[in-house]
Amino acid sequence: MPVYAVTGASGHLGRFAVQGLLARGVPPSEVAAVVRTAGKAADLAARGVQVREADYSRPQTLGPALDGVDRLLLVSGNEPGQRVIQHANLIGAARMAGVSRIVFTSMLNADRTTSPVAGDYRDSERVLREAGMPFTALRNGLYLERYADHLSEYLKAGEIIGAAGHGRISAASRKDYAAAAAAAVLRDERGNRTYELGGPPVGLPQLAQVISEVTGAKVTYRDLPPGEYARALRRAGLDEATARFVADVDASIARGELETSSADLTNLLGRAATSVAEVMRAAHAG
Ligand SMILES: NC(=O)c1ccc[n+]([C@@H]2O[C@H](COP(=O)([O-])OP(=O)(O)OC[C@H]3O[C@@H](n4cnc5c(N)ncnc54)[C@H](OP(=O)(O)O)[C@@H]3O)[C@@H](O)[C@H]2O)c1
Repeated sequence: MPVYAVTGASGHLGRFAVQGLLARGVPPSEVAAVVRTAGKAADLAARGVQVREADYSRPQTLGPALDGVDRLLLVSGNEPGQRVIQHANLIGAARMAGVSRIVFTSMLNADRTTSPVAGDYRDSERVLREAGMPFTALRNGLYLERYADHLSEYLKAGEIIGAAGHGRISAASRKDYAAAAAAAVLRDERGNRTYELGGPPVGLPQLAQVISEVTGAKVTYRDLPPGEYARALRRAGLDEATARFVADVDASIARGELETSSADLTNLLGRAATSVAEVMRAAHAG
């Protein structure tokens, strides 16, 4: 019978978190990978993990997926506007299933960030608090992949453009957030816990400098007003809503909202987070 369940296990973070539990010595038979489509988790099934199908938006699928589960890693959904109700469905199902703790992937500084995405996380944390069951909020900072995935574009253009001003990001790789999530799931905590997670803060000019050092190509950072940045993203092919969203995230960085001095990530990992240079070097090596 599974003891631990991980939702979103067909996605990047969830899959790494399942692997993180196994790496920490949890027997595969004690892990349930909760996914929408079982075929997407065939690799995990091959390792002996129990794959259970469920859809956050179909509450009737959630109870059976959580049957017998003691601790749940709830990886936040990726549909803005739907997330709070989806998370509420999962929290309700977890309560009914007798789950003893929910570990929820939230957003850095969720209680004070004014970024448009923060509302979903703030409201989800409120639902968790109101449910009255013990929870751990993992407030993840930005993924370094937000930048690493665009490395070839930066190299081609010789620049990173953005609207982050003098703001800094406390970002980390998905693998590190997932490893921290696995560690948090295995911790015997009392009451509710909140971890503010992110690597050492870096500004975008510093990020450009690291990329230059790692690749040997000169890359600089050019700061634009948010509206101009959104228009540049539109010209690069992003749709209106996505361009506005990306520019809004940068405005949030500029306000200092995606930075933390917390050592929570290092503490959960038991080591330093993977550095920006290492992540960029790996992306460059392909
Ligand atoms: N901190 C950051 O910078 C940052 C950036 C982006 C996202 N996020 C958040 O972090 C989460 C995990 O990131 P990620 O990179 O692992 O995202 P991802 O690769 O897109 O994975 C999302 C996972 O959620 C599952 N999912 C989505 N809707 C679902 C539903 N209705 N029912 C069941 N499962 C559903 C997906 O299942 P399918 O495989 O079936 O689609 C997938 O397994 C995201 O969902 C988002 O909330 C954070």
